[in-house]
Amino acid sequence: MLKRTNLYIDNFQGINIRTINSRGEYFMTDIDTTQPVIVARNLKKTFGVFQAVDDVSFSVEPGQCFGILGPNGAGKTSTIRMIYGFSPITSGDIFVFGLDIKTQYRKIKARIGVCQQDNTLDPDLTVIQNFEVFARYFNIDKRTALAKASELLKFFALEQRRDARAMELSGGMVRRLVIARALINQPDLLILDEPTTGLDPQSRHQVWERLERLKKQGMTILLTTHYMDEAARLCDTLVIMDHGKILAQGSPQSLISEYMGAHIIEIAEPDDALRAFFLDKNERLEDLGHRLIIYTENGHEIYREICNRFTQKSCVLRSASLEDVFLKLTGRELRE
Ligand SMILES: Nc1ncnc2c1ncn2[C@@H]1O[C@H](COP(=O)(O)OP(=O)(O)OP(=O)(O)O)[C@@H](O)[C@H]1O
Ligand SMILES: [Mg+2]
Repeated sequence: MLKRTNLYIDNFQGINIRTINSRGEYFMTDIDTTQPVIVARNLKKTFGVFQAVDDVSFSVEPGQCFGILGPNGAGKTSTIRMIYGFSPITSGDIFVFGLDIKTQYRKIKARIGVCQQDNTLDPDLTVIQNFEVFARYFNIDKRTALAKASELLKFFALEQRRDARAMELSGGMVRRLVIARALINQPDLLILDEPTTGLDPQSRHQVWERLERLKKQGMTILLTTHYMDEAARLCDTLVIMDHGKILAQGSPQSLISEYMGAHIIEIAEPDDALRAFFLDKNERLEDLGHRLIIYTENGHEIYREICNRFTQKSCVLRSASLEDVFLKLTGRELRE
């Protein structure tokens, strides 16, 4: 039988998560491309009487980046914690690589990389020591772990910080390090809980760019986020969830087409004449009091008409975005 014997990684410009088998051939993974990497069926999670995840079903295809979007408290973390085996399933089923998480968790664990929402680094240990400790969970010997860690640090532009203590790193470096560490076992599936929350634009783009490179290498990625630009850029398919339920599923563009018109017009401080104007039009409209939001397929035409007939201080015509879909489905009120 052919064995995976080594992780092969290009230097400098990036990582190539290619493995080399005993015949010296490179290949990406031994993952079965004919079946979904994750199947979640009628998944439920309760905490006491509280239902955090309520009958959630979805599947993730190989090589896909699949996003779970939702406001604070939607149930994103509760869902993925069950997928990476951190939290027991209340009811329902999860299959990862076709294996049942309830009975074959050990096999699954060896093939997934997990980056939790919270920073799980040991602050007193150095960057490289954090890799070493983590590698022990996968029974990776020290020499192999150090070699892989060096390559991963290079890929995530952290090699200068190899001997710094984790507590001395900036927030962006910590996040990159946690993602890098999650790759120590050459996972076929990378699970990221809010990979870029709290990062500045530079750090976010740096993380996105690395994740895109991993995706190009064939890595399957499951991530949670409440950043719409992150989801739109990285995800092939996503679900929007709230109150433990999936509200919508599809590609970013298909969700925009399905739930929004092509254009959105936003009018600040609308007066009664403007409201009356829209009463006659058969356009979908949201009246927030201080702001009118019009969802339409004829944005340019209506915008011109408004400009010609009204002296509006602020009237903006723009394309519909994933954020509009998100707000439409999950509402505009603040969460705790
Ligand atoms: N261990 C727990 N015990 C009790 N309730 C919990 C527990 N973990 C989560 N919850 C509750 O379940 C709900 C979903 O939480 P979860 O962490 O899954 O949300 P989330 O979508 O990841 O939110 P965020 O965007 O803030 O990370 C919340 O109301 C939360 O308070
Ligand atoms: Mg969360």
